[in-house]
Amino acid sequence: MKIDGIPYRSVWVDREDGWSVRIFDQTKLPWTLDILRLTDEEEVAHAIRSMQVRGAPLIGAVAAHGVALALRRDASTANLDRVVEMLGRTRPTAINLRWALARMRAALHNLAPSDRLAAARAEAAAICDDDVETCRRIGEHGLPLIRDAAARKPPGGRVNVLTHCNAGWIATVDYGTALSPIYQAHDAGIPVHVWVDETRPRNQGAALTAWELGRHGVPHTVIADNAGGHLMQHGQVDLCIVGTDRVTRTGDVANKIGTYLKALAAKDNGVPFWVALPHSTLDMEVGDGVAGIPIEERAAEEVTELTGRTADGRMETVRVVAEGSAAANPAFDVTPARLVTGLITERGQTEASEGGLRALYPEKA
Ligand code: MRU
Repeated sequence: MKIDGIPYRSVWVDREDGWSVRIFDQTKLPWTLDILRLTDEEEVAHAIRSMQVRGAPLIGAVAAHGVALALRRDASTANLDRVVEMLGRTRPTAINLRWALARMRAALHNLAPSDRLAAARAEAAAICDDDVETCRRIGEHGLPLIRDAAARKPPGGRVNVLTHCNAGWIATVDYGTALSPIYQAHDAGIPVHVWVDETRPRNQGAALTAWELGRHGVPHTVIADNAGGHLMQHGQVDLCIVGTDRVTRTGDVANKIGTYLKALAAKDNGVPFWVALPHSTLDMEVGDGVAGIPIEERAAEEVTELTGRTADGRMETVRVVAEGSAAANPAFDVTPARLVTGLITERGQTEASEGGLRALYPEKA
C-alpha cells in the first residue's frame, strides 16, 4: 500500500544495513508515522507485546524476522528453540504467531548452525511474500460479495460494509484481510462506504482502519462500537466483513472483542456476516472455539485510560473511569460458526464448517 505515493509493506528488512527489521509504530498512528528499527529478538518481543505491531498475520511475520535476528548472535539449536518459545509467549490468541514460528523452526532445525542465519532470513522473507499474495487473493475472492451487493442497489447507491477492529494492510504484510476486498472494490470503481467500529478499548478501528481507508481514499464513517446494531435495524449495513485471529476446524472465529455482538446483531437483522482469513489463521487442532481458544487478558489501563492528541498536537493519556473502580479487559471473543455467513480465504469462499474447511484445505485435514 502507498503512503503519500510511496509503496510500503508493514514490515521490511532495512535496505541499508540489510539485516535489521523495520516496522511502523502502530501505537503512534494515526498521529505520527514513526518507523522503528528492531535489532534483536527482545525488541521484537517488546514490539509484539506492546502492540507496536499487531494484527494476526503481521505479528507472525515480525516474529519470523525475530528468529533471524536471534540467530545472528547464536545459531545453536538451543538458541533456536529458546527464541521460538520466547516469541510464542508474547501474545496467546492469534494462531498465526505460532504458525510462523513453527514454520521457522521446521525450516531451520535440521540445518547446520552455520547455514541457519541465511536460511532464517530467506524463510522470514518467504513468509512475508506468502502473506502479501495470500491477502491479495483474499481480496479477489471477497470482491464478488461487494460487486453483487452493488448490483442490488438503486442507481447511485453505495454498498455499506461494516468492519470491526483493523484487518487492513497494517495488520498484515500488505493488502489486509477484511479490507482487501474493500480496497479492490474501491479500485474497481464500485461505490463502497465503510462503517468503522471504533473498537474500544484500543481503538484500532478509529485510529488504524480509518487512517488506512482515508489514505486510500475509501469513503468511511467511524461509529461507536454500540452503533452497529442500530444501523443494521435501519437497513444501513449491506454486509459485515471482519478479520480473525484464529478459526477452528469447525469454523468458530476468534476476533477482537465485540465481534460476537456484531455477529448476533447481523443474524437478527439478516445482514450477511463474512470473515476473511489466510491459511495461517486456521487452527485444525481446536474444535470448539469458545472452550478451546485462549483469550488474551490485557492491562486494565487500556480500559480505564484513553490516549489521543491534544489541540496543540501532543499525545496525552487521560483517565476515563472513576478512581477505585476495577476494569477487566478480555481482548478477543469467539463468534460461533452458526453466526458466520461464510469465510473468505485465498482459495475462495466456503462455509464456516468442518466440511467447508476440509474441502478447501484437504492437506490440513
Ligand atoms: O489486538 P489486535 O489489534 O492484534 O487484534 C487484531 C484483530 O483482532 C484483527 O481483526 C485480526 O488480527 C485480523 S488481522 C488481519
